Amino acid sequence: MKDLQNGLKTSVNRRSFMKRGLTAAGAATVSAGLLGNGLSAASEGPEEKSGRLTPGDAAILRFLAAAEILETDLWQQYNELGGIQDSEVPGGNGNPTYTAALAVLDADMDQYIHDNTEDELTHEVFINAFLASKRADTVNLDEFRTLPSSQATGAQQIGRLTNLMQLTVDTSWWTRYRVGNKNPDFGDTFDQAVPSLNVGQHPAIPRTDDDLTPNDHIQAIANTAGFHFGTIEQGGTSLYPSLAQRVTHPEVLRIVLSIGPTEAMHFQTWSDKAGNAPPLTDPKDPTLVFPDLNSPPFGGEKFQTNLIMPEPTIFLSRKLPACSIVRPTATKGAAMGALKFLTAMGLFIGQSPAFFELMTDLAEDADEARRGRG
Ligand SMILES: [Fe+2]
Ligand SMILES: [Fe+2]
Repeated sequence: MKDLQNGLKTSVNRRSFMKRGLTAAGAATVSAGLLGNGLSAASEGPEEKSGRLTPGDAAILRFLAAAEILETDLWQQYNELGGIQDSEVPGGNGNPTYTAALAVLDADMDQYIHDNTEDELTHEVFINAFLASKRADTVNLDEFRTLPSSQATGAQQIGRLTNLMQLTVDTSWWTRYRVGNKNPDFGDTFDQAVPSLNVGQHPAIPRTDDDLTPNDHIQAIANTAGFHFGTIEQGGTSLYPSLAQRVTHPEVLRIVLSIGPTEAMHFQTWSDKAGNAPPLTDPKDPTLVFPDLNSPPFGGEKFQTNLIMPEPTIFLSRKLPACSIVRPTATKGAAMGALKFLTAMGLFIGQSPAFFELMTDLAEDADEARRGRG
């Protein structure tokens, strides 16, 4: 896998999208580039090169490549401390105490974390390689690998793209998939499974070895990770079908239709494991409470932990029968919605304005994509 990553850096890292310090003169250069690609000066299309792809397809794939790079970065941090250490996902040494706390949710958590990490890495590498094969510009976020690593035993000391030590975790996917008469695409909102995770900032990995004790504290961190896994992967589960509706070329459609469901496979697994997080109060942060989801005031169809398959719900029209579906899947503004969702969870705390500028640009270009005739 390391070879794949290194290969990517030499073969497809031909251009970075730095828009930092874009002045009036810089904007003029961008316009000239548009003209150079044969697009009209009045066109508001993406500035990047799309090669043999339509500009919309290239923009959607670039946003997905960026999202996968960010996913890989966060999953790698989890794997270094709580996954299986091997040549497929190299980097860390493992943290036995954190790994044991994760194993309370499922004995195979380390394997699942490893495999999820490897999957994201292949998504990132494949999408960028496909873009390059069509002579379209690729995505490289290496300049933004500036956030600190965990100082706990087992973590590699390198710059990161994402922050896992101050997270605000939206756990409303738990009830969103359990209630049968609501759909976020109809404007509905949903209760949190763990309300206190959705406020304040919580570590999902041990920050230092001080976080390894007492037992209930490192368990609270592992529980936070357990819910964060589901939060991240339900996002990917919605993002792919949302963007698929606006791709043009059948091969690009095949890519998003083939990667998207693997995000759903991840989500389904994490949805099951999060339900095993033991109820507790974090002794070092008494505001963080993991409730017993099977007992009042929780429990029932909205919270019961073994109800891990999607409850059928309203889809497209209230006049149509209920259907078991991924939700949300509305396509309008889906890329920007995903970026806002990741930003709101604190994943990018400490990132530079240039990072947000670039990510916003990639999301806007993806959301401008329209389905065409290729
Ligand atoms: Fe992915
Ligand atoms: Fe994913």
